[in-house]
Formats: sequence, structure tokens, C-alpha cells
Amino acid sequence: MSDLKCCVVSCDRPLDAAYWEAQYEAKTTGWDLGQVSPPIQAYVDTVADKNSRILIPGCGNSYEAEYLLEHGFTNITVIDIAPTPVAVLKEKFKNNPNIQIVLGDFFEHQGNYDLIIEQTFFCALPPTLRQKYVWKMHQLLAEEGILAGLLFNRMFESGPPFGGSKEEYQKLFAAAFDFIKMDLSENSIAPRANSELFINLKKNRQVVVNLYELEGITCSGYMETITEKILAIDAVLNASISSNFAEVLIVSTNEIETKILKDVIAYDEKYTIKKIKN
Ligand SMILES: C[S@@+](CC[C@H](N)C(=O)[O-])C[C@H]1O[C@@H](n2cnc3c(N)ncnc32)[C@H](O)[C@@H]1O
Repeated sequence: MSDLKCCVVSCDRPLDAAYWEAQYEAKTTGWDLGQVSPPIQAYVDTVADKNSRILIPGCGNSYEAEYLLEHGFTNITVIDIAPTPVAVLKEKFKNNPNIQIVLGDFFEHQGNYDLIIEQTFFCALPPTLRQKYVWKMHQLLAEEGILAGLLFNRMFESGPPFGGSKEEYQKLFAAAFDFIKMDLSENSIAPRANSELFINLKKNRQVVVNLYELEGITCSGYMETITEKILAIDAVLNASISSNFAEVLIVSTNEIETKILKDVIAYDEKYTIKKIKN
């Protein structure tokens, strides 16, 4: 059984507001396409309801929001943790009542959206936050809500961006979302050709999605054992532990009593589990 250190890639530099702001100030924004991403443009063209409540997290310069506005959408919210792009957007869209521009942390954001657009936000987050991302997306979406956009289908040597694979995403989003689409994108920009998946994931409103804080787990072997034990609980549909073993995402048909989870992992007394409040 090999002992894994926590967040191998990202512990050495926190990917916080200061990190992202520094990239904007230094103009080291290689991710910025300078235009709406073509697969997202094509998808937006299929959205009939111009009053859909739309969120774009980690929006950066958000050419996607601009495209939405140009095409008559009336209820757009964008959020970014870095002040510079937020200030640019506020100036660009001042006096436009159809867009709300928020400076803040996506994970603190509250709202209810019909559509959330993913464009190089997931890959910008430390991979340790992937379970939290699924939990938060599920919370922010309305009953029939859709998470649509692009995820990398390749790995990078170091990040951000942090890559991934279709197999990983299928496991991560399973049960919390219904998979309408998760296929290789056919109209990515040339440098990203054949390396992006277009996702169209519909919130599964029949399930309960909770995130729990874990303590005491230090290696992937224990992680697998605990995942299996949680999956064996009646009503649990999916369980996914973060790569630093600090959190577990549990999708179930009904609320699971914390005592049941505590008993399941208490085969070693150093393991503890605590529900994270919304
Ligand atoms: C790789 S950039 C992508 C920007 C934009 N989506 C684009 O494609 O040009 C990632 C963005 O996410 C923002 N970001 C990172 N963590 C965030 C968080 N927790 N909440 C909100 N925004 C965040 C960064 O400031 C940055 O603008």
C-alpha cells in the first residue's frame, strides 16, 4: 500500500485570489481565447429560453457572457475571484441590466440557476476541490438545471490547468447528474482540438448530494476501503474521496445519518467524518 502525500501538485502555491490576480496583472493569461469558445457558442445557440438564469463561474474576460448578451439573454451572472477581470467586465457592461458581475469565490456563491457554463474553471481549481465542485454545482442548479461546457480530456505535466479523463469525470459526476452528453468536442479551437470533452450534465434532483470532511486517512489503499464501505450502505449511489483524502462526496437516495457513516468508517478509530454545511 503506497502512502500518498496530499495534493502533490498544488500545495506549494495556493491557487487563491492573489495567485489569479497576479496572472492578470502580469498578463500571463494563456487560457484567454479572446473570443467565445466555439463549442460553447454552438451550445448557447440551442438554448431557447432567453430568460434562463445563467451562471459563468471563473469567468475571466468572459467572451461567453458577451455572446449571451449579444444574443438576447437577459439573466446572466458571472463570478471571478480576481479583481482585474471583474473590474474590466464591470466597465464593459456598465448600465447593462442583463448581467450581474460578482467579485467572489464560487464556493461561497449562493443562487439558483437553470444553466451553468463551464469554460476552463474546473481545470483551474486544485484537483483536491473536484468533489466540492460537484457538490456546489448540484446546489446551485435549479431542479431541471444543466451544467454545460468543456473539460480537458488530457493530462498536463503541472497545473493549472489540471487535466483529467472521461473515465474520471464519469465516476466523479455519477448519480448526482444525468449524462446527456460527455463526448469529444468536435469544434474546439485548434490548440485544444481532440483534447476537450463537451459536457451536458443534467442535475439529478431525485438524489441527496452531501460533502463530508474526513480525517485520519493518509493513503489511497484506505481510501479505496472506505469508498467500498460507504458504497455498501443502502441508499448510497456514489461515493468519491478527494485526492488529498480530506473530503468525501456522497450521493444517496435519501439523507444518510452521520452515525451510520461514522460506524462504517470506525473500523479504525483515527478515521472521523463530519458533514459540511451548505
Ligand atoms: C483559467 S482561468 C479561465 C477564465 C475564463 N473562464 C476563460 O476561459 O478565459 C480561471 C479563472 O477562474 C478564476 N477562479 C479561480 N478560482 C476561483 C474561485 N474559487 N472562484 C471564482 N473564480 C475563481 C480565476 O481568477 C480565473 O479568472
